[in-house]
Amino acid sequence: MTDVAIAAAGAAWEPAAIAAIERAPHLRLARRCVDVAELLAVARTGVAAVAVVDPSLSGLDLDVVRELIACGVAVAACGDPAGAVALGIVRRPAPDRLGDVDWGEPAPVPPPPPAPVEGGRTRTVVVWGPTGAPGRSTLAVGLASAAATTDRRVALVDADVAGGSLAQQLGVLDDLSGVLGACRAAGNGRAHEVVDHLVEVEPGLDLMTGLPRADLWPHLRVGAFGTVVDRLRIDHDVVVDVGSGLDLDGAVGRSRHALTRHLVETADAVVVVGRADPVGLTRLVHGLLELREVVPGPPAALVLNHVRPGLGWKEGEIAETVRRLTGLVPDVFLPLDHAVLDTAAMLGRSPRASAPSSTFVRRLEVLATSVMGGRAVIASPAPE
Ligand SMILES: Nc1ncnc2c1ncn2[C@@H]1O[C@H](COP(=O)(O)OP(=O)(O)O)[C@@H](O)[C@H]1O
Ligand SMILES: [Mg+2]
Repeated sequence: MTDVAIAAAGAAWEPAAIAAIERAPHLRLARRCVDVAELLAVARTGVAAVAVVDPSLSGLDLDVVRELIACGVAVAACGDPAGAVALGIVRRPAPDRLGDVDWGEPAPVPPPPPAPVEGGRTRTVVVWGPTGAPGRSTLAVGLASAAATTDRRVALVDADVAGGSLAQQLGVLDDLSGVLGACRAAGNGRAHEVVDHLVEVEPGLDLMTGLPRADLWPHLRVGAFGTVVDRLRIDHDVVVDVGSGLDLDGAVGRSRHALTRHLVETADAVVVVGRADPVGLTRLVHGLLELREVVPGPPAALVLNHVRPGLGWKEGEIAETVRRLTGLVPDVFLPLDHAVLDTAAMLGRSPRASAPSSTFVRRLEVLATSVMGGRAVIASPAPE
């Protein structure tokens, strides 16, 4: 006897499918699932060996289909043949013929997302830092804007699973979330549409805005996000702003921070930022230990932000403390400069566009030259 789960999303074919299952002596209806979560639970617990789905089911994407197959479940789709093809589902029986399907054949696995162009010259740089707002987003904007030129496009991706901030920072008022749209397209087999979810904010700099609310993180699936980055890398260097959690406890099932961990693990370069004050340094030291569990080598660059005279520490003293505690020497010290950062935020522009000759911007440009592949162009001095 073969147990069947149906997830029809209210489609008109469901009664015919149920009747076909009841007619077939070797099939048994195990569950009518209301959503993807129930379908995956049924697959993981072995309640059903077959899943019959409607491609329009909310949240059903390539990752889910792959997971069902990985659980040993044979997947078939009724309704919307084009949607089924996009999801890589090859069994597409008429609902009243479910009894005739040979479920025993090895389940074909949907193809993996297209790999980035082999030998491609683009890079993916992830900006990470511990909790406490050390300036991950600020640094991501700074690096991306320093590297973007008219003949070198940079995609700045807001992948913070605690909620995005780059849209506000760069004055993009569009309500639509870039990452949600791009992940939906990638997860449904329409990776070519990923670039439609970019918005150009400065010459050569394309922004993919983040989550409008933190509770939407489950929509950013690791597999789909990987496809998004792979697609962007075909014609962009990619700078990714991520959250601070690294999913070290290896939570069973899906976790909020699994995406951050995946992005950090797969980046060409990870740039780490921490605050230069006592609390920030403590968090940075702990954070670097955690990061080492995910990527063993040293980060591509270590940035100390919010450096200010009031701390009473010279840069050399901070560097020595960090070296003693972590074995790493900071590459860049960024001054606390409310005038530059607040002006940029209020104008909705990058600090490079609003204060190109500031120390903050000039130091970031030197950093961009090293971590983005040496092609960043230094902005010419201009009155602020
Ligand atoms: N060097 C700096 N000088 C002044 N303000 C800064 C500096 N770096 C960051 N900020 C401000 O600190 C706040 C938090 O920075 P942000 O980059 O959003 O942190 P994170 O992404 O790590 O949470 C923002 O308001 C930003 O403008
Ligand atoms: Mg941020």
